[in-house]
Amino acid sequence: MSETSVQRVAVIGTGLIGASWASCFLARGLEVVASDPAPGAEATLRKAVAAHWPAMEMLGLAPGASPERLRFVASPEEAAAGAQFIQENAPEQLALKRELFRRLDAAAPAEAILASSSSTFMVSEFQDACLHHSERVVLGHPFNPPHLIPLVEVAGGRHSAAAAVQRACDFYRALGKRPILLKKEMRGHVANRLQAALWREAFFLLAEGVVSVADLDAAIAHGPGLRWALLGPLLNLHLSGGPGGFGALFGKPLWRATEAVWQDLGTASVDNALAERVAKGIKEELAPHDEAEVLSKRDEVLLALLELKAKAKVLP
Ligand SMILES: NC(=O)c1ccc[n+]([C@@H]2O[C@H](COP(=O)([O-])OP(=O)(O)OC[C@H]3O[C@@H](n4cnc5c(N)ncnc54)[C@H](O)[C@@H]3O)[C@@H](O)[C@H]2O)c1
Repeated sequence: MSETSVQRVAVIGTGLIGASWASCFLARGLEVVASDPAPGAEATLRKAVAAHWPAMEMLGLAPGASPERLRFVASPEEAAAGAQFIQENAPEQLALKRELFRRLDAAAPAEAILASSSSTFMVSEFQDACLHHSERVVLGHPFNPPHLIPLVEVAGGRHSAAAAVQRACDFYRALGKRPILLKKEMRGHVANRLQAALWREAFFLLAEGVVSVADLDAAIAHGPGLRWALLGPLLNLHLSGGPGGFGALFGKPLWRATEAVWQDLGTASVDNALAERVAKGIKEELAPHDEAEVLSKRDEVLLALLELKAKAKVLP
């Protein structure tokens, strides 16, 4: 089965991430069958999809795409039966995920892919609960919100078949996503670990009183973050390394000095006093603005940026 031939996706758990995935799948013209045990979950999901839809229209709908292709059912089994791809987005609790995957595996067609959105668990920690086809269980970790952000981290666990991992990558790519493949499992995957490294140093700099909260944010948002949205840190390093790029930079005094800074990086344990100081700094940073407006403007600019990036084509 080619992954572009997926017609029906099951979305299991329709909170923040599940609802966003549902909008993404619907916008690509797929049929979505969703399930979530929370009271009122169907109404909440339909409201979230309606709220996402203008953005999905701006990004471009596939022929036949419609929020009406969403069906809500009473159980994960009912959602999984007849789906070719299953995206799990239940709460981040291992026992819950293990039980859910056991049930999904028993109910899903043998050739369906079972993908987990888990931010912190590795597939090997729950796929052995699947007694039928554990080889089709993979990680499909999105970045919030999945209806806008292209990145999806894909990885297999101890029992995953390479073909299943490949099929998941192909499916996400066919949706217009940018899957990255983890060659081995790692707690926290890749992008969140990179963010964690930055946050660790940010809190260290704040704890040391080096910079204010607003200036720390500006250091990224008005500095390297602008380029990071276009090219990753390694390609940026290469392109700003002068003639010869990284290959030529490596070994030069500037590179040795850069690496020496790594030894100087810090770590802070965030105690109450630091947490209060950071919260106060964030409040001051936001004071001249309306928070809801900042959020909606962020997504508006993000949509425009996604459009520009798609048009540019040469950005990897
Ligand atoms: N929040 C993020 O930024 C983010 C980003 C990427 C991935 N994730 C991952 O996505 C998953 C969901 O996170 P979220 O932020 O959407 O959480 P959430 O709390 O918003 O949503 C979880 C949903 O699962 C439902 N649920 C509870 N028990 C269930 C069950 N047994 N079967 C099916 N659904 C059940 C809940 O009712 C709720 O609607 C987690 O694994 C998380 O690690 C989260």
